[in-house]
Amino acid sequence: METRKLKIAIFGGSGYGGSELLRILLFHPNAEIVLVTANEHAGKAVGEAHKNLSGLTDLRFEKAPEDLSALENFDVAFFALPHGQALKLVPQMPDSVKVIDLSGDFRIGDAEIFRKFYKLERDVNDLQKQFVYGLTETNREAIKGANYIANPGCFATATLLALAPVVKGGLLTGKIIVDAKTGSSGSGAKAAANTHHPQRMNSFYAYKPFEHQHVPEIEQHLREVGTFKNDFVFMTHSLPVSRGIFASVYLETTNILTNKDLKNLYEHFYKDSFFVRIVEGSPDINWVKTTNFCDIAAHSNGKQIAVFAAIDNLVKGAAGQAVQNMNLMFGFDEKTSLIFAGSNP
Ligand SMILES: NC(=O)c1ccc[n+]([C@@H]2O[C@H](COP(=O)([O-])OP(=O)(O)OC[C@H]3O[C@@H](n4cnc5c(N)ncnc54)[C@H](OP(=O)(O)O)[C@@H]3O)[C@@H](O)[C@H]2O)c1
Repeated sequence: METRKLKIAIFGGSGYGGSELLRILLFHPNAEIVLVTANEHAGKAVGEAHKNLSGLTDLRFEKAPEDLSALENFDVAFFALPHGQALKLVPQMPDSVKVIDLSGDFRIGDAEIFRKFYKLERDVNDLQKQFVYGLTETNREAIKGANYIANPGCFATATLLALAPVVKGGLLTGKIIVDAKTGSSGSGAKAAANTHHPQRMNSFYAYKPFEHQHVPEIEQHLREVGTFKNDFVFMTHSLPVSRGIFASVYLETTNILTNKDLKNLYEHFYKDSFFVRIVEGSPDINWVKTTNFCDIAAHSNGKQIAVFAAIDNLVKGAAGQAVQNMNLMFGFDEKTSLIFAGSNP
């Protein structure tokens, strides 16, 4: 285990994911943020762009260095940039620096599928093979030994945590249907018509039917968790809230399971996973907001099962899970700097 402070770079610190990395890492006992980059916000104080951090740090946003070999003394770099940016930058990073990418650039193994869903070319497929998928609860041992982490998408995190116990247990039969909803911060910090408050506050709508870019990473990781050959229907919706993912997952099992069987299954699967809480009734995005928790409830009607999962898209769905993975990569307790309660209400 490292005892010194890790030298950390954050690329894209002025966005929402970057903001949450700063909020968590500024108080991490083994972290020293040395470089935090921005694009349009370069030159500004961190507390100017992120008013919640005002008075808590003297860091300023810088432009990313032209020559990334200058970062050879860093321990770890987080990339919280729009899709396509890490694809260009990570290949230029010194080998000695561990990388945690919050974008989708390195999550998908198959370059053709990546092109289809992200509309981007990827010619660094050997590098992609070195990336470990960073869903902490299902991939802990691989993450501990990894130099490159592809941090999961927010929808993917909630959906996979809801499905993993059933898939690992070989209990699944038939089709899975996932009906998932996100808050507006899932679209990032830049204002857009679909995030403008007067439009967004009363709206509820579906988007990207059958085409959401998280579909392939969910299917790919379910095949790593257990035997998975099932049809998978995944629909995404926009909620009129700022933070939160709520996934409703409907499936059928090979055997009849009672509610008690399901509770035992989920509690056993997550017995060593502090950040997954099995709850009664329904989880609620209100109780996980700003935290690294994923709350899950599972209900049975014979062989028909409904599983509900709620996370904060920016914490367990992005920056919190990224720090959880960093903790494992450097031998720290995975909970370090991540134990904080949400707020009531
Ligand atoms: N939001 C979520 O809930 C969420 C969850 C999981 C994963 N992710 C992924 O995490 C990544 C960051 O998401 P986000 O929501 O934090 O995005 P965001 O709020 O839009 O922030 C993007 C960051 O990238 C910088 N940037 C934008 N264009 C750039 C360019 N051409 N070159 C260099 N830097 C550039 C921005 O700098 P300036 O602001 O200074 O221009 C900002 O710091 C994305 O890949 C996203 O898919 C997001």
